[in-house]
Amino acid sequence: MDADEFRQALACWASGVTIVTAEHEGERLGMTVSSFTSVSLDPPLILVCADKGSNTLPIIEASESFTVNILAQGQEELAQLFADKGREAQRFNHTPYENGTTGAPHLTGAMSHLDCYLHQAIDAGDHSILIGAVVDVDTTDQAPLLYCRGNYREYIE
Ligand SMILES: Cc1cc2nc3c(=O)[nH]c(=O)nc-3n(C[C@H](O)[C@H](O)[C@H](O)COP(=O)(O)O)c2cc1C
Repeated sequence: MDADEFRQALACWASGVTIVTAEHEGERLGMTVSSFTSVSLDPPLILVCADKGSNTLPIIEASESFTVNILAQGQEELAQLFADKGREAQRFNHTPYENGTTGAPHLTGAMSHLDCYLHQAIDAGDHSILIGAVVDVDTTDQAPLLYCRGNYREYIE
């Protein structure tokens, strides 16, 4: 197996799209993440995997908190803004948000917000598995933004 074959296999996995946000001492950042999974109901735990080279990871570690913003259909541009390297400084310029219980930004218009304290960070290859203890959620009945085979996809009910 070479690296391309591995990537192609992973790209077959259809997922939703989230933006994981964090804020520490006035510095806020976020990044697009599809590696979001529920872990435990009692206690309520979720996980995301963050590239060790990500700029958002040190802010999550410093604040020991983050929000998983589950994106709604129509938020593709926001997903791309929070994924593009070199546009970090623009990400919050015109993006409305409110700070949640943990202090991490809740992006306006997201389908759901899960506010988490960092429960555990597990070293895993070139990524860090971040387990979040969920302390607050809100949910709307919008349709989700989907991602598969390198493209954003439409949810059909
Ligand atoms: C649909 C999609 C899903 C992504 N999922 C992840 C992910 O699960 N973990 C990750 O570290 N990066 C993921 N990325 C890449 C990051 O969003 C990208 O590297 C971003 O620029 C990181 O921002 P930062 O370095 O400012 O934190 C994904 C990108 C896209 C477009």
